[in-house]
Amino acid sequence: MNTPEPLQGASAWDHRYREGTDAWELGEPAPPLRSFLQHHPLAPEPPGRVLVPGCGRGHEAALLAAGGFAALGLDFSAEALAEAQRLHGSGPELQWLHADLFDPVALGATGLTAGSVQGVLEHTCFCAIDPAQRSAYLTTVRELLAPGGWLLGLFWCHPRPGGPPYGAEASTLARQFEQAGFTMACWEAAVGSASGRNGEPRNDEWLGFWRR
Ligand SMILES: C[S@@+](CC[C@H](N)C(=O)[O-])C[C@H]1O[C@@H](n2cnc3c(N)ncnc32)[C@H](O)[C@@H]1O
Repeated sequence: MNTPEPLQGASAWDHRYREGTDAWELGEPAPPLRSFLQHHPLAPEPPGRVLVPGCGRGHEAALLAAGGFAALGLDFSAEALAEAQRLHGSGPELQWLHADLFDPVALGATGLTAGSVQGVLEHTCFCAIDPAQRSAYLTTVRELLAPGGWLLGLFWCHPRPGGPPYGAEASTLARQFEQAGFTMACWEAAVGSASGRNGEPRNDEWLGFWRR
């Protein structure tokens, strides 16, 4: 009998990248995030170290680096990081970190310690982790942020059971951030989301910007 493949571990994500079963891939930064960073009155100003947890092929990290931030793309999938390096290269302003977001020792080994980043940019990492790990996600990123630091994120608020991608309910998610010690500056239905796989416009993404 075949052992069922784990959905969550690094090897499962490596497998998805190798096999091309990566339906989340946009091939570019998510348009609502790009638009916020480039045009929104609340957009954070560079410089500063910005972490992109679960960065995948690194499109958002590369966008941040091009905008003057020191971007740290973190992923526990070596396949994802190899793709990110191939697509975007690396340098002092764009680094790829191989670690599990939930392993503080591995994070520390990459230089990610308490208060060590000014910003966090979230895109489809939160929906990729088991919902039981969401409070650990929020505790971890809040701990890594310097006081006054920011978190910009695009969240998939769909009601379907199972995952990944795991769904969320917009008001519940906003409450979870508040309970984790974040101060909301913006929480709204995203505008200009990339189309779904059938080409129809997406209307189930929410954009948030918080301060620690
Ligand atoms: C759905 S993909 C999204 C990739 C990228 N953010 C994007 O939007 O194209 C989720 C990513 O999170 C990574 N990931 C999931 N759990 C992780 C963890 N505990 N630590 C680090 N990376 C993780 C996976 O390897 C995968 O690359």
